[in-house]
This record gives sequence, structure tokens and C-alpha cells, in this order.
Amino acid sequence: MPLRTIITYPHPVLRQEAEPITIFDQELKNLVADMAATMYHAPGVGLAANQIGIARQVVVVDRSVAKNEHTYITLINPVISAGEGRVVDEEGCLSVAECYSKVERFRKIHVTAQDVEGNPLEFDAEDRYARIIQHEVDHLRGTLFIDRLSLLKRALYKKKLKKILQERE
Ligand code: NI
Repeated sequence: MPLRTIITYPHPVLRQEAEPITIFDQELKNLVADMAATMYHAPGVGLAANQIGIARQVVVVDRSVAKNEHTYITLINPVISAGEGRVVDEEGCLSVAECYSKVERFRKIHVTAQDVEGNPLEFDAEDRYARIIQHEVDHLRGTLFIDRLSLLKRALYKKKLKKILQERE
């Protein structure tokens, strides 16, 4: 399970619309295993394939209950078919350096997807789990959580990022 490099904003692959998966083979399983390893290594609670430079509709979401557990769910071709309630909570993203901000999301969502074998999945998700899925599905559409911030907050972040990138040079 080799770790993959996490691509960061403003790389264009993060803006790409991810293509659906049609072939459920060993290569897909390897990709998912690498994504999970990369997510836990970061550490993060969700990862979309765009974030490792692969614009395909694959996400992994942490489902661990205990601290040292590494239990996750894989969602292939996920679709959020319904949402209800609105909650505001803090979000960050492995692809968006040094940015944490409050984002409004549905509190409860209905999700359809496929598992890594291609079997259909259909379930409701709430609260933190629902938030992570909405964040990851956004990635597959080329949307980042900073797109959901106010213009002012986004402008401030862009300014901050410019500074961060200059300091890294
Ligand atoms: Ni993210």
C-alpha cells in the first residue's frame, strides 16, 4: 500500500470533474488501499481520488470509532440524492494548506454509490459522517470547501496562501 502524494490547491486536477468508474478490478482495489493508507498517514478523515491526481469517482471516508482503528468506507461513483437540515461546522482539507473555516452543509443526506466490488450501496448519513461525504463528493465535482466560503474569507485565504507559497520557495 504505497503512500501517494497529496495534491494541493491551486493544482488544476482539483478542479477536474472526476470520471465514473466502470471497471471494478484489482487496480481499483489497489488504488483504494493506497488512498486509505495515504489518508491515515496524513492524517485525514476523508480523501477523494482527485487529491492524489486521479480524476476518478473514488472516495474513502474514515469510519473508525476507537482511536487506533483504521476502519473506512469506500464510495465509488457516489451521489447525494437528498439532503435535509443545515448545520455549520469547521472544515479543513488535506489539499488546502493551513485553512480551517466554518462551512454550511446538510445535516442528513441520502447516498447512493457502489462498493469496491461494484455492488450497489444506499444509506443515510448524518452529522460528521454526512459532512465528510459532502466534502469528498464536492472534490469529485471539482469543488473545494473554500468555494463555499464568503468572497471576503476566500480572498483572505488566497492572500495567506500566496504568502505561504512564497515562504516555501
Ligand atoms: Ni478535502
